Amino acid sequence: MFKFAAAGQCGGVGWTGRTTCVSGSVCSKQNDYYSQCISGAGAPGTTVAPTTAPTAPATSAPGGSPTTVSAPSTPSSTPAAGNPFTGFQVYLSPYYSAEIASAAAAVTDSSLKAKAASVANIPTFTWLDSVAKVPDLGTYLADASSIQTKTGQKQLVPIVVYELPDRDCAAKASNGEFSIADAGAENYKDYIDQIVPQIKQFPDVRVVAVIEPDSLANLVTNLNVQKCANGGTYKASVTYALQQLSSVGVTMYMDAGHAGWLGWPANIQPGSEVFAEMFKSADFVAFVRAFATNVREYNALTAAFPRPITQGNPNYDEFPYIQRVRPMLKSPGFPAQFVVDQGRAGQQNFRQQWGDWCNIKGAGFGTRPTTSTGNPLIDAIIWVKPGGESDGTSNSSSPRYDSTLLSVRRDDPAPEAGTWFQAYFETLVSKPTRPL
Ligand code: BGC
Repeated sequence: MFKFAAAGQCGGVGWTGRTTCVSGSVCSKQNDYYSQCISGAGAPGTTVAPTTAPTAPATSAPGGSPTTVSAPSTPSSTPAAGNPFTGFQVYLSPYYSAEIASAAAAVTDSSLKAKAASVANIPTFTWLDSVAKVPDLGTYLADASSIQTKTGQKQLVPIVVYELPDRDCAAKASNGEFSIADAGAENYKDYIDQIVPQIKQFPDVRVVAVIEPDSLANLVTNLNVQKCANGGTYKASVTYALQQLSSVGVTMYMDAGHAGWLGWPANIQPGSEVFAEMFKSADFVAFVRAFATNVREYNALTAAFPRPITQGNPNYDEFPYIQRVRPMLKSPGFPAQFVVDQGRAGQQNFRQQWGDWCNIKGAGFGTRPTTSTGNPLIDAIIWVKPGGESDGTSNSSSPRYDSTLLSVRRDDPAPEAGTWFQAYFETLVSKPTRPL
């Protein structure tokens, strides 16, 4: 899950989190609004004076006029060449449809009920977040293949590969079943090796995958967290996933955090270096289309004006972030195209801090998935997080209870990450959808 609030950030206007860093890193002021723990010589646990003069926020005050980031120079509804979504219908996950059907049945307000039921027609990604869920993929692919045969409409099955050992290394809510200390790297290979043959069986169905949300971003800002420090295993595992899934034609988007994480000026370049390294280490695999941003998050693609919580970061939304990071990534053979999760981005100005990520109250469903993004850098708006599934439990006796959540607003009581959260779903449905 989103981590700079938990570990990377250590100060700035409005920051209420901790202001010290672990041994070996120092709190370095980047600007008035953002200080970050950076590895290097310095007394452990200290907050250092800024080495650079404070930078005035590049964005205007809330409610003021925008902005330092221009709109796309050539807005276009023409999809970029090689867009894997073009010409395909995105397969509806039967699992999510079933969740929606029972959720809608439980809604008492009659106008909300119909709206709730309609969410079943919106494609969301299937998260393969445990080995036990891998066989579902085979079932969905067989189903998609038969729909394709019957209707002549080509099908695309969207998945999230999400099973790294020591998963969610800077937090707890989404910790997974493998640990590096207990053969996690080998187990991860087995997991990928179980996915591959299922896909191979259905070459007629296209598979698009988002690869390991948050993992590589944690290697940019959270190496000071003990579980993230073994970045080599994440990198080797992701490399293996890219290579193996490419061998069966899966189009992949590596998760690239979001504007409020890797989009900060201090993080954007180091982030791009990690992603370029991954692309190279996977031998420039042909099917890495590039990046997914804003997965599970609430940022708009382009907001009318910067929100108060984003002050100090000129990349205050996903489009400015994408526009700035792309030139750092694009290289011959690397298309550097993006997909952006907008599933829960329909409302803005409801977070207290940009780092708030867990079941934030006030969120609403966002722009429907589409390839008409109006932006040649973005292949598609997608819904990666199935809206209504929890981000993390509020039960403080759970091993996955994350104490950093104490500071955020959320509906209580919230169930474990990935399980159904009816009250949250009803809030999402009750909000108007934000147009693109
Ligand atoms: C959870 C996963 C879940 C996914 C989609 C993540 O935050 O960790 O278990 O499948 O969200 O709800």
